[in-house]
Amino acid sequence: MRLGISYHENVNNWATASLLDTMKKKGHDAVPIRLADMGAEIPSRFIHIDDDVTNLAGIIVRTIGFGTGDQITFRISLLEQFEDAGIYVMNPAYSFRRAKDKYATLTALHKNGIAVPKTFIGENLEAAMEFVEEVGDVVIKPLIGARGLGSIRAKHEELTYRAMKFVHQLGQVLYVQQMIDKPDRDIRAFVIGGELVGAMYRYLPEDDDDEWRTNVHGGGRAEAASLSAEYEECAVKTAEVLQLDYTGVDILESKNGPVVIEANASPSWSALSRVTGLDVADMIVDHLVEKAKR
Ligand SMILES: Nc1ncnc2c1ncn2[C@@H]1O[C@H](COP(=O)(O)OP(=O)(O)O)[C@@H](O)[C@H]1O
Ligand SMILES: [Mg+2]
Repeated sequence: MRLGISYHENVNNWATASLLDTMKKKGHDAVPIRLADMGAEIPSRFIHIDDDVTNLAGIIVRTIGFGTGDQITFRISLLEQFEDAGIYVMNPAYSFRRAKDKYATLTALHKNGIAVPKTFIGENLEAAMEFVEEVGDVVIKPLIGARGLGSIRAKHEELTYRAMKFVHQLGQVLYVQQMIDKPDRDIRAFVIGGELVGAMYRYLPEDDDDEWRTNVHGGGRAEAASLSAEYEECAVKTAEVLQLDYTGVDILESKNGPVVIEANASPSWSALSRVTGLDVADMIVDHLVEKAKR
């Protein structure tokens, strides 16, 4: 089968490279594709640099890269046109786009009965401040972010206001969320094809009392976890609601049970593989092949 994988800056990225290796090992023709190097001809021909890739059976979207509003719109549109032309896109174009957008994600989850933190999203500073006065301890995050980067936690209202003003002046949308009272760890649950394949706890870094993020890239320690039925169900339902073929769901253990903060549409799994021994790339590629056959 001819299979693609989208990358942007670095084709040697750990996850991208292991997916490419796995595809090749399984006898597939694996094509790394930079969406920024794509051209589309109407009617229905897709060209990557000088290679006609219209005959791809499926593509794993690791990233659509960075760019201007125009460039991002084109690349998302391209994924939709791949789908229209019968190329299986994983994760599906709309699911990928929605999972990258924390506002759209939480809205969909909440509508389907999954607990999420109280959150304000908007461009008006005064409205955001009113929310902060109401809920108290908050975290300010980028609307589209990963690895805990760009998140701010200000413990006083005055500092929160100044942080939000700064974010606002940068032209960013304000995404302000109530801090959930929880243990010094969170859960990362990995779901592929509607099944929980593995999970880990991520503990807060021990050498930094002020850190509130458990992201492994920020120094959080990973440990294999076996989830209770309640948490497993929450992870599987999150993937199902968001229609993600594979995802890493971030779940907080609140006093009232699982609270989901995001579902990653192109998660890495190096920490998960290390602590569980799972061959995640193998399972992801098998799932893509299964989907692309139909
Ligand atoms: N509402 C919250 N309450 C408590 N901790 C949070 C909250 N939101 C985020 N965190 C901490 O910050 C980390 C990063 O937040 P997350 O929403 O997953 O963004 P990112 O996309 O940057 O990973 C989480 O893994 C968690 O440890
Ligand atoms: Mg996260």
